[in-house]
Amino acid sequence: MGLLVKNGEIITSNSRFVGDIWCEGETITRIGKNLEAPADAEVIDASGKYVFPGFVDPHTHIYLPFMGTYAKDTYETATIAALCGGTTTLIDFAIPGRDESPLAALETWKSKSEGIACHDYTFHMGVTRHDSQVESELKEIVAGGIASFKIFLAYKGAFGVDDRELYNILKLARNLGVITTAHCENADLVVEMQNELVAAGKLGPEHHHSSRPPQVEALGTRHLCTMAELLGSHVYIVHLSCENALREALEAKLRGTNVWVETLIQHLLLDKTYAERPNFEGAQYVMSPPLRDKKNQNVLWSAVAHNLISTVATDHAPFDLQQKEMGRDNFTLIPNGIPALGDRVRLLYTHGVETGRLDIHRFVDSASTQAAKIFGLFPRKGTIQPGSDADLVIYDPKVSEKISVKTHNMNIDYSAFEGWEVKGRCDAVTVRGKVQVREGKFVGEKGIGKLLKREATHHVS
Ligand code: URP
Ligand code: ZN
Ligand code: ZN
Repeated sequence: MGLLVKNGEIITSNSRFVGDIWCEGETITRIGKNLEAPADAEVIDASGKYVFPGFVDPHTHIYLPFMGTYAKDTYETATIAALCGGTTTLIDFAIPGRDESPLAALETWKSKSEGIACHDYTFHMGVTRHDSQVESELKEIVAGGIASFKIFLAYKGAFGVDDRELYNILKLARNLGVITTAHCENADLVVEMQNELVAAGKLGPEHHHSSRPPQVEALGTRHLCTMAELLGSHVYIVHLSCENALREALEAKLRGTNVWVETLIQHLLLDKTYAERPNFEGAQYVMSPPLRDKKNQNVLWSAVAHNLISTVATDHAPFDLQQKEMGRDNFTLIPNGIPALGDRVRLLYTHGVETGRLDIHRFVDSASTQAAKIFGLFPRKGTIQPGSDADLVIYDPKVSEKISVKTHNMNIDYSAFEGWEVKGRCDAVTVRGKVQVREGKFVGEKGIGKLLKREATHHVS
């Protein structure tokens, strides 16, 4: 047995080559021209198509207890949706409640995913408080292969940490050589501004963005970067949405701080007018940081093109229309999140590569390779080379499709991109040499996804 992918245009973050890929078992073992396959091998003809490394989404929420409810996907529905859209690895977040043990939370997340996910995955370990017990559990968790943390500067009273905790978590992360991912918004200001709006009777979803303006995100970003600079810790800003915050991160980079930046496909393509749609439709577009004024998008695209923003993720957090109704009378109660896991790659290809905003290599880099590198998965994931896992996306750029809730695989009753046309279909998607998708449809085996162990790679010299 084995799999031969023939005559595809193989595109990685730094190379382009028409040739063949031979996958033996779970691994890519040869790349070349005119490779021969044994009689019992499966052969996929990729002529006229791209062959990309499996895409990596470094920010998803599949199991997520949040704002009094739970995100809608399961590891089965989410990973099937991801695969049909070209994503073969995701990094989810195991987030303990403030009183919960991190080890117990990690066990919960493992129990939701093990034997259920249809492609590989790992977790960022949420840190929602700091004390000596948490510190010793985190050491055990990192030693066990979960080599990144997640903190929230927002969500006061829920996941948010205070400055004493932030300082100690970043110090621990530095000492363990792990990177800390962070949601950067000033929590106190969000609460104050929410209260002001509610008191003024401004209760609809169209007011959500006014409660968390760009300055509030910039302040949170500056705060994190200053702490990281002070301690020499490595940090990764999740879902950066606007120019103000980007400038803070870039200033910190220029001062030598080890800071990486992620944006979302939603922030590149959707703006605040979506959350202003009448009749509560705007609730479908409530997330934090919020969708911004459109003028931010050119800045974000340009930063992605020049690798000032390293990664494009989804922050996939699906809450259905009924769940969004929880905030019908008060926007602060609308569960925050916009689903996009199944759409990210094709939207980025269509609006990035096809428009000329993104070089095709940078497309692969921002949607796959950088995430693998930053989070200790490279070169197992994120590239096509001998020794890498045989996670491949055979992509036909000639096929056009329309995104719709009627055809998507995410377990959610609306699409944030309903009716948007995308160029390209994932003709075949493999996970460690196994064909999981054909002609854009899941045809594979459920439950084969493995929890990936990662080494700490962010040691400070
Ligand atoms: O609105 C969002 N982003 N929901 C998911 C939780 C988070 O902050 O990442
Ligand atoms: Zn967040
Ligand atoms: Zn998130």
